[in-house]
Amino acid sequence: MSIQKIKAIDAIQEAQKIAFAPFVFQATISLRKLGVLDLIFNRRKKGGISIEDISKELSISVYGIGVLLEIAESSNIVIKNDDNKYEITTIGYFLTYNKTVDVNINFTNDVCYKGLYHLNDSIKEGKPEGLKELGNWDTIYEGLSQLTPEVQKSWFEFDHHYSDDIFQDALEIVFRKNPGLIFDIGANTGKFAISGCKYNETVSIKMIDLPGQLKKALVNVKDKGFENRVSGHEIDWLSENPKIPTGADVIWMCQFLDCFSKDEILKILKVCVGSMEENTELLIMETYTDRQKFDNAKFILEATSLYFTVLANGNSKMYKATELMELVDQAGLTIKEDLAVGEYHTIFVCKKK
Ligand SMILES: C[S@@+](CC[C@H](N)C(=O)[O-])C[C@H]1O[C@@H](n2cnc3c(N)ncnc32)[C@H](O)[C@@H]1O
Repeated sequence: MSIQKIKAIDAIQEAQKIAFAPFVFQATISLRKLGVLDLIFNRRKKGGISIEDISKELSISVYGIGVLLEIAESSNIVIKNDDNKYEITTIGYFLTYNKTVDVNINFTNDVCYKGLYHLNDSIKEGKPEGLKELGNWDTIYEGLSQLTPEVQKSWFEFDHHYSDDIFQDALEIVFRKNPGLIFDIGANTGKFAISGCKYNETVSIKMIDLPGQLKKALVNVKDKGFENRVSGHEIDWLSENPKIPTGADVIWMCQFLDCFSKDEILKILKVCVGSMEENTELLIMETYTDRQKFDNAKFILEATSLYFTVLANGNSKMYKATELMELVDQAGLTIKEDLAVGEYHTIFVCKKK
């Protein structure tokens, strides 16, 4: 939409929506938590439900339900029908029952909401100034294993939601040449390592991550009975001289490089190149802003970038594929294959030049 084409009356409406966006967001949180949206949805075949009945069924005042539903109606989350009863709209339905929206709402509320207040300072300082709302660390990754259970749950659900579903497709690419040893860089909770061991009976996997995260991942691997084939290597990529072992047939990085600035990515890739043989494949799986078919997917990635700015580390983002391609080239790698995986992800299969 060009700026000339929107009428002033519509433009002021949009501007006011932004001015009060946190109000609409918190009202939505409340409507979800109190079960108001569920209740309205469940009454859809009975012609909706009145405010008095909602109040009675949920034991909440008519006043409380009223203020929430007023703004929900103006935000097209619910509508009031001719009998003065509330019904849920398609937007309200997605806010209540769509898995991706659910994961995003919980991540925004539990992990990001308080921290986002400090965004302006983060932009000026290049530091995650909002992180102090969660704990006293330099980056969120140092604190992942120490977050409160509610925050941790929402962080991991967000993280896993964007990789779990495509792991199966990704495994087929990772295992095409039957690798004997894989390095999983940024192994997180060990989910990929566990899936890899289930997928292939002989593969060994070395998970490479920060000490706190690695400890948790190794426990998860042991719980699944794969401790004989999965080992760990502690690293802090932000330290002076990070090193990884040699000998991998495949180095796997999934949604990992977006946790770093361009300079840091270059350093990480160069360390990997130093550990690679001629035939080693480095597989980078990411969601790129310039590879999204749907506007809402691009929008999610842009919001995720702000999470990196204000909470994660202050200097990373969701990148364009073209930006990563340049860094891969500068690090001494060539992209042998550029593969679309699922609807949102891309795998670059890289080899040493
Ligand atoms: C977004 S998660 C990766 C998720 C996982 N690969 C997946 O696909 O679900 C980023 C991972 O990078 C690790 N990480 C972040 N900063 C790091 C650092 N400075 N050194 C080592 N690992 C780091 C985190 O601990 C985390 O496991």
